[in-house]
Amino acid sequence: MLVRASARSSAIIFLTAFAAPGVASLRWGMGSAWLGRNASPIFLAFGFSHFVHLVALVLWASLFPGSFFANLRLPAVIAGAVLYLFIGFMCIRVFLKPLGRREWAEAVDGVGRFLLWLAFTLAYVRRALSGALYGFLGLLAVASLALRLAPRLAHAKQASDVV
Ligand code: HEM
Repeated sequence: MLVRASARSSAIIFLTAFAAPGVASLRWGMGSAWLGRNASPIFLAFGFSHFVHLVALVLWASLFPGSFFANLRLPAVIAGAVLYLFIGFMCIRVFLKPLGRREWAEAVDGVGRFLLWLAFTLAYVRRALSGALYGFLGLLAVASLALRLAPRLAHAKQASDVV
């Protein structure tokens, strides 16, 4: 089903963009440098993939409203809508970044990035034992955080070695 497929492609692309700065700082070769340079276009690809998720949801709701609304919970819809606002903001910011950086926009970006990571992680880690694909996606979510934080962890270790 397109709703699930687009959520899965979105998860893979988002988690790649999320891990990219950390992977680049590990200097694993040309691939990791490429990833670091292209984190923004990869995020835009996630934006497109998640737009497909939205289109699939609208199609499902219009063609089969009975099955669509049967399991829909209002809090989940509100949370999803808020995340879409973050995604829209973050995609627009990719284009506006060259015009200058704003501290508040960076902060919104950071919150959005964390909430998106949390949404995918909760969705897939919870179901990690129910199938190989869910297991892979859950693992990818956890690994992406470790990779993202790798430079900070290395920095903290260096600092503690010096002391
Ligand atoms: C108002 C907005 C949204 C609505 C109404 C919505 C609705 C849905 C529905 C109905 C499903 C299919 C559930 C199933 O049959 O298993 C689904 C799957 C999913 N959605 Fe969304 N969604 C929204 C936004 C989002 C956002 C913003 C994210 C992530 C940041 C997201 C991530 C997912 C994930 C991870 C799945 C599970 C796919 C799988 O089983 O592999 N959704 N969504």
